[in-house]
Amino acid sequence: MLGKKSQTILVAILSILFCLSSVSNGVFIDIQDGLFVVNATMENDTLHVSIVAETIGYVAFGPSPEGMMTGSDVIIAGYDPITQTSYIGDHFFNFRPPPIVDTIQNVRLLWASENGTHTSVSFTRPLDTGDTLQDLPIQNQTQFYIWATGSDDALGFHNNRGYIQVNLFDA
Ligand code: HEM
Repeated sequence: MLGKKSQTILVAILSILFCLSSVSNGVFIDIQDGLFVVNATMENDTLHVSIVAETIGYVAFGPSPEGMMTGSDVIIAGYDPITQTSYIGDHFFNFRPPPIVDTIQNVRLLWASENGTHTSVSFTRPLDTGDTLQDLPIQNQTQFYIWATGSDDALGFHNNRGYIQVNLFDA
């Protein structure tokens, strides 16, 4: 059994380790009353995003220079009921659509599913992927993020879209 002093030291060490691992409680963003709901958390150098959106098509989200498509770095994910497969892609916008598939894919799908009305996706990506050509870093400051949903899983024109300004590090 540990003595009182050892227990205190152990608790102190665990507290320091917890702080160093910097797990954030997360940011919860509800856009337009449940139309597009984002939950973002950080763990060390990794961003973890879960999205539930009112669509049976694709779900797209990512950092953007000014809230427009141009120059944005978007992750597009979903579940295709025809092929019964989940999908995800790291994309980038030049001056106009369609989104370009990044040469280096810096995103990892955890899961994607859909019911008759909503699609849920969960994925991770490094905060700074190091891909300066086709990705934007997630920084500890207020940034623009664009979001969109498609009416189906073909990566075409969206049925809903918009932007938010948020610091994803805020917990
Ligand atoms: C092939 C795919 C896409 C096409 C053809 C397309 C096309 C367009 C067009 C024509 C507009 C201007 C009309 C409007 O305001 O609705 C627009 C706006 C917008 N789209 Fe897309 N889009 C595509 C994919 C995406 C994706 C994946 C996102 C991701 C998050 C997105 C986000 C936005 C946003 C935020 C706006 C408003 C700001 C802006 O005009 O840049 N779009 N899109």
